[in-house]
Amino acid sequence: MLLDELGTPIVLAPMAGGPSTPELAAAVSNSGGLGFIAAGYLGANDLGERIKATRALTSAPFGVNLFVPSAPTPEDAYRGYVEALAREFPVGEPRFDADDWAAKLDLLAGDPVPVVSCTFGCPSPAEIERLHAAGSEVWVTVTSVAEARVAAEAGADVLVAQGAEAGGHRGGFTDRPEDDLTDPPGLLTLLQLLTAAVALPVVAAGGIATGAAVAAALVAGAAAAQVGTAFLRCPEAGTPALLRDAVVIDTPTVLTRAFTGRRARGIRNRFLLEHTDAPAAYPEIHYATGPLRAAARAEGNADAVNLWAGQAHTLAPELPAAELVAKLSAEAKAAVQRALSTRIQGY
Ligand SMILES: Cc1cc2nc3c(=O)[nH]c(=O)nc-3n(C[C@H](O)[C@H](O)[C@H](O)COP(=O)(O)O)c2cc1C
Repeated sequence: MLLDELGTPIVLAPMAGGPSTPELAAAVSNSGGLGFIAAGYLGANDLGERIKATRALTSAPFGVNLFVPSAPTPEDAYRGYVEALAREFPVGEPRFDADDWAAKLDLLAGDPVPVVSCTFGCPSPAEIERLHAAGSEVWVTVTSVAEARVAAEAGADVLVAQGAEAGGHRGGFTDRPEDDLTDPPGLLTLLQLLTAAVALPVVAAGGIATGAAVAAALVAGAAAAQVGTAFLRCPEAGTPALLRDAVVIDTPTVLTRAFTGRRARGIRNRFLLEHTDAPAAYPEIHYATGPLRAAARAEGNADAVNLWAGQAHTLAPELPAAELVAKLSAEAKAAVQRALSTRIQGY
């Protein structure tokens, strides 16, 4: 199990749409953590290039993260939303695609990496078996005990527990508006539930921005902490300027479907507040809002772009990734020692 061999139990969260770069992944892997390439939105050829670029920068293990495709959404469900957007903004053609899933699996089966992690669903047992046969571990993002059981049954090696605090898209297997009335569990709750229910190792994600929080996740039973937002301001990250600037401002985050048709946590801005009626239709809405987001980015307008970030975003430091990994590790160790020296009454 790769997690047992890491120099430090810190996993770089895959962050598609800019932040993830070969330089960032390699810097984390070279520091003893596990770097990740985000393959979401990339075609298989581009993924192949990123893998090559990462291998040129590190000989340490790293992972590749894939979006598991869902099914097309009937047009009736999103036509009204797209028509309303089109009256105000430039919009694109809402369309479905599978994010080049089959070609990316072929690529990884022929040219394996140590870990393939998946989000938005669970690969089939046959797909997991194919990645195992190539020599890769398969990690599956889960947001509930029910999803964890499905992933374990399918043959996953590791569960990535995504708490409600996490920035970016919810990584659960479904995205149904009828589930919105129930709050997703926070990370500490989810870790307790998962470790009680499933025997697989768990990597903890969501709101972890300090070594103390890394330590808390480990004490609660996680094998490692997966950290995303805290790396957004590293010089190696390809974070868009508007997001890099927004994370330092103390503005709350919100779960929204407004930008992509799939629930995601982003820093509150005008567009998401004005489009709380967005339908569940991913990736159709992602493609429909592409031009309006690009136009806003070109104008430097942070009010109409997705600013994906976790709840602890103001703690993201401007540090080289290697320094951030070293800082998180040292702080985690100190936090565990501090906790050990605490007297627990009666014992
Ligand atoms: C900008 C951004 C992009 C993300 N993109 C992905 C992705 O491509 N694949 C994925 O599995 N998770 C993605 N996530 C979610 C992370 O894997 C992880 O759950 C999250 O970053 C953890 O919470 P934190 O951001 O508070 O550290 C993204 C998160 C952010 C902030």
